[in-house]
Amino acid sequence: MKVFLVAGARPNFMKIAPIYHAAVGRAGLECLIVHTGQHYDYEMSQAFFDDLELPRPDFFLEAGSGSHAEQTARIMVAFEKVCLEQKPDLVMVVGDVNSTLACSVVAKKLWIKVAHVEAGLRSFDLSMPEEINRMVTDAVSDYFFVTEESAVRNLEHEGKAADRIFFVGHVMIDNLLRQVERLKEIDGRNFSVWPLKEKLAGRAYLFLTLHRPANVDDAKVLGGIVAALNQLAQKYPIFFPVHPRTGKMLQRFGLKLDENIMPLQPLGFLESLFLWRDAFLVLTDSGGLQEETTALGVPCLTLRDNTERPITVELGTNRLVGSHPQAILGACAEYEKDRPRPRPAPPLWDGRAAYRIWEKLGT
Ligand code: UD1
Repeated sequence: MKVFLVAGARPNFMKIAPIYHAAVGRAGLECLIVHTGQHYDYEMSQAFFDDLELPRPDFFLEAGSGSHAEQTARIMVAFEKVCLEQKPDLVMVVGDVNSTLACSVVAKKLWIKVAHVEAGLRSFDLSMPEEINRMVTDAVSDYFFVTEESAVRNLEHEGKAADRIFFVGHVMIDNLLRQVERLKEIDGRNFSVWPLKEKLAGRAYLFLTLHRPANVDDAKVLGGIVAALNQLAQKYPIFFPVHPRTGKMLQRFGLKLDENIMPLQPLGFLESLFLWRDAFLVLTDSGGLQEETTALGVPCLTLRDNTERPITVELGTNRLVGSHPQAILGACAEYEKDRPRPRPAPPLWDGRAAYRIWEKLGT
């Protein structure tokens, strides 16, 4: 069986890594990596391929940035050519980025089977581009690989056949557990952030990521978040790897960060884990980090009003706080008084999801 494994943006790379590694050596399976080029900066792309021990992609589509329509269209045109030439039996897409939607639609229209990994998640918030990507991808997929039970319910509610839905666990957690082990073998002194962490000499610190358009593209919203962060920084140093979108917006709106906030280049996977694993608290609007903090029992405040990953709130260490400064400060104060304790990982977040996927596909 010839499978195209598609990735385009940073959170995709973490998810395809375990799927790729679990494919190696399986008789009769040819797994080829297609990189759409949605993310292209070294720190956003190549650094992850290196960290995650992924080989060079077999196909690189060089889609680049642009409006959603431009980006999606460029990916579709380029991907269609490769599909027509290569005739894969199955296209496997992960997550909810524009590349996920673009490649699933192209494949389905060429009568190629589509497998969606991380299917069925729903925030029910159509102002999020990712929610549209999730819904469209699931509308055309043949196989649904699911990370948590809420997603099974969502897919069944949408009329998907039960025998196409496979609750396999979470490939991103497969990767996380593998990287936690690798980190034990690595000398942290080689990380660029080592001296900054050392200087804190064990002081409690926060780890922050921020990139959702709803949080960073509006001057008032981003201004409010920065005001809350500047206040928190009076008490806690804050590590802040800055997403390119967010960096541009901070500059455009002329927002100043407190000197106790350490803006960093986007970090590789291991270096980022090295920091957030030991944080007193993670503040984020990322989908993946909500889940990864839950898996390692690190307290997390999510700067959004909703989540498509409810298990992180029900069984994990995550809490939704939105983006209002008072809400962020209030939640931090509560966590200081009563820090959530780590709990057992959600069902099937055990490092074996990628193997289950290939087994279910009969390879
Ligand atoms: C995308 C995904 C989002 C995911 C995020 C992780 C969609 C709709 N969004 O958002 O779900 O959580 O990736 O990072 O697919 N840029 C660079 N260098 C790069 C890539 C982007 O400078 O390598 C800049 C460009 O100015 C670009 C902007 O960042 O316009 C946004 O990039 P884009 O891929 O459109 O969306 P993200 O915000 O990264």
